[in-house]
Amino acid sequence: MFVSKNLDINQKGNLTIGGVDTLELAKKYSTPLYVMDEELIRENCRLFKSSIEKYYNGNGLVCYASKAFSCKQIYRIAKDEGIGVDVVSIGELYTAMQVEFPADKICYHGNNKTAEEITLALNYGVEKIIADNITELELINNIALDLGVTAKVLLRLTPGIDAHTHDFIATGKIDSKFGMAIELGDAMEGIKKALELKNIKLMGVHCHIGSQIFDITPFEHAADVMLEFIARVKNELGYEIEILNLGGGFGIKYTQSDDPKAYDEYMGRVSEVVKKKSDKLNLKLPFIIIEPGRSIVGPAGITLYTIGNVKDIKNIRKYISVDGGMTDNIRYALYESEYDFVIANKASLPKVDTVTVAGRCCESGDLLGKDVKLQSAEAGDILAVCATGAYNYSMSNNYNRVRTPAVVMVSNKGSYIAVKGQTLEDLVRNDI
Ligand code: LLP
Repeated sequence: MFVSKNLDINQKGNLTIGGVDTLELAKKYSTPLYVMDEELIRENCRLFKSSIEKYYNGNGLVCYASKAFSCKQIYRIAKDEGIGVDVVSIGELYTAMQVEFPADKICYHGNNKTAEEITLALNYGVEKIIADNITELELINNIALDLGVTAKVLLRLTPGIDAHTHDFIATGKIDSKFGMAIELGDAMEGIKKALELKNIKLMGVHCHIGSQIFDITPFEHAADVMLEFIARVKNELGYEIEILNLGGGFGIKYTQSDDPKAYDEYMGRVSEVVKKKSDKLNLKLPFIIIEPGRSIVGPAGITLYTIGNVKDIKNIRKYISVDGGMTDNIRYALYESEYDFVIANKASLPKVDTVTVAGRCCESGDLLGKDVKLQSAEAGDILAVCATGAYNYSMSNNYNRVRTPAVVMVSNKGSYIAVKGQTLEDLVRNDI
């Protein structure tokens, strides 16, 4: 009935998340409010972790892509579950460092890393820096030389795969700002360069073909192309690459019509390709890294809002305005992303209305959904937007000097604040 399995309805007819009444959460912490289900996050971490055991004999690592949702508590959870993380900026790395996240389980990404970032990553001992291009490889080498260390590096490659997702989140095609294209020969040039540079130790190759992908075939295809490339490197340069990082991108259910495959099916099918292909090409089975972001935290989150004005423009459209919008969820404005909406205090009633959910910014495009099905809405109702655990809080912003909401986690011990909501003082803190 709901898009995420942690959502339900209690005897009062209210929406619950992880068994906790969302009305009580809204009352206790006020709205807008991000709510994340710690138990479901942990369950998802374990699911991916156990699939590495099952399909690769434990010869691999799950690195949660923390761009999906980054704060100290998520790094604590990942650390506790024994998985790694992918970070993509000095801010994410710094946050992970605050909880003493193990450096050997961090993948450091980015298509244009700064010297400051590379220095911090090397000083902290990050063991998997993913170099995007040759300029960056040289910069990493120079900084490593200055610091008197050897940088362990993977190269980001573009395998030339069209993953059938939104153009803004498709990254595997040749026409991409990320990585070195295999087809154009850039990837081989990058490998040669990495092998030549004295303070670089080439550990592996990486690809990430895009995000919110339902079809397993492009993932299989990517694994196939990457292994072919690893074999070419072995044959032409006599160097056998040890790590194959296949990125993230597994789709989740946002709406009733979304039909993602079980993660286990994805892992099973891709591992078959990896094993068969390695065998055929006479390669050692590589150490596998996967970087799920959305699929770990997305289904675990919801956002709660209070409905304000309901504006019915006769024969045109009905708008309901909420006390948040593109500042806490910019995904509709960016990608016209679809969500499932529920009035939390009317969760057991049928969705009889069609409404457009508007935020409170000075932008007509500040919508959370257009012409969506919803229970009959009145001012004061609590609106829940489902499956907002990924790329909502992490993409929040202060446009119109709107404060970002708190993140509350629910667990079997009750609820607690993981990130405080911004205060007015926070907004002016850096102003002179
Ligand atoms: N690894 C790399 C190198 C990535 O760039 C990404 C996502 C991931 C892993 C995790 O992908 P996931 O499993 O979450 O699909 N803001 C967009 C999504 C951007 C994804 C960027 N890279 C959205 O809201 O849909």
